[in-house]
Amino acid sequence: MAIVHGGQLSKVAKKYAIPEQDWLDLSTGIAPFSYAIPTIPAKVWQDLPTISESLIKAAEHYYQADYCWPVAGSQQLIEKLPTLWNDKNRSVNTGEMKHAYLPKVGYKEHQQAWFLAGYQLHFYQQTLPDNIEKNSVVVVINPNNPLTDTFSITQLTQLKTHCQQQQALLIIDEAFADIFEPEFSFVPHIINDNQYDNLIVLRSFGKFFGLAGIRIGFACTTQQWLDMIKESIGPWSINGPALFIAEQALQDKQWQLSQKVRLNQQSEAMQALLKSYLLNARIEANALFITVFLNDASDIYEKLCSQAVYVRLTDEQNALRFGLTESSNLPRLEKALSSLI
Ligand SMILES: Cc1ncc(COP(=O)(O)O)c(C=O)c1O
Repeated sequence: MAIVHGGQLSKVAKKYAIPEQDWLDLSTGIAPFSYAIPTIPAKVWQDLPTISESLIKAAEHYYQADYCWPVAGSQQLIEKLPTLWNDKNRSVNTGEMKHAYLPKVGYKEHQQAWFLAGYQLHFYQQTLPDNIEKNSVVVVINPNNPLTDTFSITQLTQLKTHCQQQQALLIIDEAFADIFEPEFSFVPHIINDNQYDNLIVLRSFGKFFGLAGIRIGFACTTQQWLDMIKESIGPWSINGPALFIAEQALQDKQWQLSQKVRLNQQSEAMQALLKSYLLNARIEANALFITVFLNDASDIYEKLCSQAVYVRLTDEQNALRFGLTESSNLPRLEKALSSLI
């Protein structure tokens, strides 16, 4: 079952018979301002990639992690986690029904991975699960994509304690967390103890740094999990140029601070624009995307597409998610919105 995501503009362009270059693509939550690609030495292209100590140091510092390791986008690990968890739990799971608790609305690749691995799926939304089965799996997407909801450190700590009691695996997907203050992240609360080591925080590099195409992300977890992850992804999953760019970007504090300001300002400008045309809609937003809840979301989606403005219609078909765009594209968005009235 292929999951529909934002992006994949060529398919939509074909459907509406409008050339790809004529579209305003707001369908993803990837920053429209990307980290400038530094000059990449020829050796980085020529050699097999090496995960250097300096990259790990930069990532540990940026993510406030005791242990972290790069992966080829957090998606790589989302797909691998069921196998890793089954291997780790081999002695306890034999023959029993396995359970996974996931947000009902949220990045669907998590659901797909656990479903394909034979887990019985249970869904929650605003309230984190507090009565889970032994040896189960809980996935939290913080902040939620596309709903923008967040959970506090206190809520997540309670969940972590419950998972610990039930010997469950807790996965916190912080793909969009870079836009918040460092205190938002659960990474510093990962404690490398023998009592409970089943906690993994996934971090995506591509969204905040606007470089989703280079396919790099990070797993922040305990030493034991890192060893399993390293072995599972092998030595060359992440290409040399991605490692090189990420190392520089993760150390560039000044750029990160300016990026936060830029994204917040742009999100506010776009929210104001959307509010002025979609008068009665509920709008939830963060600094990387804006979700507009509408009774006629699929109608509006079609109308925007017919004007070559591509947004993401949620799977529930009750909202549109607008990714950010540069200011120079706002008159174009405004023209499309004004035609809806
Ligand atoms: C919530 C969430 N997690 C993870 C991912 C995977 O991103 P990546 O593989 O680029 O890190 C996405 C992609 O859209 C996402 O929305």
